[in-house]
Amino acid sequence: MHMFKHASAETSGLEGVVVASTVLSEVDGERGTLIIAGTDVERLAVQARFEEVCERLWEPYLPGLTAETVTTGLGRARVWAHAQLAELGSALSLPDGMEALRASLARLPAEGVAPLELGLRLTAAAAVFTAAWACRREGRGLPVPDAGSSHAADLLRLLTGETNSAKVKALETYLATVSDHGMNASTFTARVIASTGSDAVSAVVGAVGALKGPLHGGAPGPVLDMLDAIGAPAHAAGWLEAELIAGRRIMGMGHRIYRVRDPRAAVLERALETLEGADGSTPRLELARAVERAAEEVLAQRHPERPLRANVEFYTAVLLDQIGLSRDLFSLLFTCGRVAGWIAHIAEQRATGKLIRPDSRYVGTR
Ligand code: COA
Repeated sequence: MHMFKHASAETSGLEGVVVASTVLSEVDGERGTLIIAGTDVERLAVQARFEEVCERLWEPYLPGLTAETVTTGLGRARVWAHAQLAELGSALSLPDGMEALRASLARLPAEGVAPLELGLRLTAAAAVFTAAWACRREGRGLPVPDAGSSHAADLLRLLTGETNSAKVKALETYLATVSDHGMNASTFTARVIASTGSDAVSAVVGAVGALKGPLHGGAPGPVLDMLDAIGAPAHAAGWLEAELIAGRRIMGMGHRIYRVRDPRAAVLERALETLEGADGSTPRLELARAVERAAEEVLAQRHPERPLRANVEFYTAVLLDQIGLSRDLFSLLFTCGRVAGWIAHIAEQRATGKLIRPDSRYVGTR
C-alpha cells in the first residue's frame, strides 16, 4: 500500500508574486486605487462608453484601433453572434447560466480568425449569449441585435426589453468598472492558456471557468441573498455573526489585494445613487449601506489583523438588481465586462510573455 502524505497547505496562492508587466491596469491595494488603461476607474466608469474602454484596453496591442472601429465592429459582431445561436445545440439549455455561457463560447471557431475580429466576436458573443440564455429561461424569443446601438444599450434591450437611458448608463458604468483588474484569477487563467500559444476562444472559455467560482465572480448573487435574508438594518449584526460562527464567509467582503475599501465599490455605490435619483424608486441602498457597516464591524472583531472591507461584488449586486436584472445573471454580466480585459491580456501575453510554467515541490513518497 502506498503511504501518501498530504501536501502541506501551500497557502500563499501566489500572493505578492509578480507574473507579468502590464500596461493594462494597476491595482494599488494600500491606497485603494485602480487605474484602467491609464485612467482612474472613477473617471473612466463615469465618462467612457464601453466601446471606448475596449479601444483603450486593446489599442496598445492592436495599434491604430479607434473607438469608432470598435463601435462598428461590436455592432456587426453582435449580429454575427445572433446568427451563431443555431449552431450552439443544447449549450444554452444548461440550467446554470455560467455553464451555458462556458459551453456556448466554446463552440466558437478560432482558427483563421484575425485577433481583432476574434476579440470583437468574443465580446459580442458574451453579451448576446447571456441575453439568449436569459430569454430562453423565460420562454421569450431573443430580439435581433441592433448593430447601430451602443453595446450597453443593446445588451439591456436584449436582456429586458428596456431602453431607459438611466439604466443603460448604470449598466455602462458597471461594464467599464469591471473591465480589467490586474492579475485576478480569471485574467491569469486566460494568460496561462494564451502563453501556450493556444487561441483566444480557449483562453476566454478557461477564464469564464475561473470567474464562475464564488471567491471570484460568483459572489454578487449570494450578496443579494444575504440582503434578502437580513431584511432590515437592525438584523444585520446578529445575522452576520451567526454566519461567521457557522464558518461561512460574508460575501462581497474582503479582497486579496485591497487593504482598504475597493474603489469599485464606491463607483458602483455612486452609480446607484444616480440611478435611484433618476427613477425615484425605493432604495435597497440604505439596507446595503447598513449591512456593509455591520459586516465591517463583525469582521474587524474576528480578524483584527486583516482589514476586510467591501469589494466590487457588494454593490454590483444592488446595482444590477436595481437595473432590473435577476441574480442568476450577475456573474454573466461580470463576464460581459471583464471579457474586454481578457482580450487585452491575451494580446499582451502573446506580444510580451513566454510560456507560464511554474514549479511545484514534491512531498510524496519515493
Ligand atoms: N468573510 C469572512 N472571513 C473572511 C472573509 C469574508 N468575506 N474574507 C476573508 N476572510 C478571512 C478568512 O476566513 C481567513 O481567516 P483565517 O485565517 O482565520 O482562516 C482570512 O480572512 C484570510 O482569508 P484568505 O482566504 O486567506 O484571504 P484571500 O486574500 O485569499 O481572500 C477573498 C480574498 C476575496 C477570497 C476573500 O476575502 C473572500 O472569500 N471573500 C468573500 C467572497 C467574495 O466576496 N469574493 C469576491 C471577490 S472580488
